[in-house]
Amino acid sequence: MIANGPLTVTISNGTNRANMSSLYAQINGITLAYSDRGTGLPLVFLHAFPLNRTMWAQQEKALALEFRIITIDLRGHGESDAPLWRYTLDQSADDVRALLDHLAIQQALFVGLSMGGYILFAFYRKYAARVKGMILADTRAQADTEEGKQGRFQMAQTAYKKGPPAIADIMIPKLLSPATIQTKPDLVRQVRAMVENNQISGIAGDLMAMAERQDSVPLLSQITCPTQIIVGELDQATPPSDSRLMAEQIPHARLAVIPHAAHLSNLEQPEAFNQIVAAFASELGKKKQS
Ligand code: MLT
Repeated sequence: MIANGPLTVTISNGTNRANMSSLYAQINGITLAYSDRGTGLPLVFLHAFPLNRTMWAQQEKALALEFRIITIDLRGHGESDAPLWRYTLDQSADDVRALLDHLAIQQALFVGLSMGGYILFAFYRKYAARVKGMILADTRAQADTEEGKQGRFQMAQTAYKKGPPAIADIMIPKLLSPATIQTKPDLVRQVRAMVENNQISGIAGDLMAMAERQDSVPLLSQITCPTQIIVGELDQATPPSDSRLMAEQIPHARLAVIPHAAHLSNLEQPEAFNQIVAAFASELGKKKQS
């Protein structure tokens, strides 16, 4: 199914990729780009919509000192192919599984932020044995409401009519807090560049995939792996109430609320985010030995 030998290229294209080496694998008929740095317990990071794996640059830099950090451009994003065809979250979960096979990784700790969390639920439904633990960040278990689905279809139309810059205009106020937008122009530019570097087929494909996604609330009580939930206190896209619901229903889950962060808590407060991830991963790593 997979397995062209990995090709390593370092590129810098204005999306903070300067320090992220790119590797490529042929997965399920497409080219998938990813990074793989460090050694130890594998941590696999799944990015938000409509971004790419460079949103994890601060996590890779800090956490690769202790762990093996794998970040993936999900199909439709970044340097990965964005086929003009139907997208589903199950298909993204299959891509992640195939990449794990390619890397000969049996089990990992997964970190999914927002859409990355939706994919993590799809992945857990299919491949629970591959999940040693999970971190669900700024995400939710509920499916879209009818109104939410309509909003996705309209956004897909906007993507086709006006292109990715119009999607960046819509998304940035949903992703970042007003204070971040006012005081961190470099971060805003970085997020805008990630959105604008996507192809329309990938943006629209994801919107359809998210609109069609399953309700994962019934799954919550079935989750048996250690789980950490993280949310920015100012997150309006997937507010803290959604995280509390997950924390109440996933057995033994922990919840951490990050102050002064909105939806992209890993980018707005990277140190706080990294501390939570590192503490959870260290504990999980020790479980292996005991
Ligand atoms: C994301 O950050 O991945 C999106 O905001 C998720 C969504 O639109 O539901």
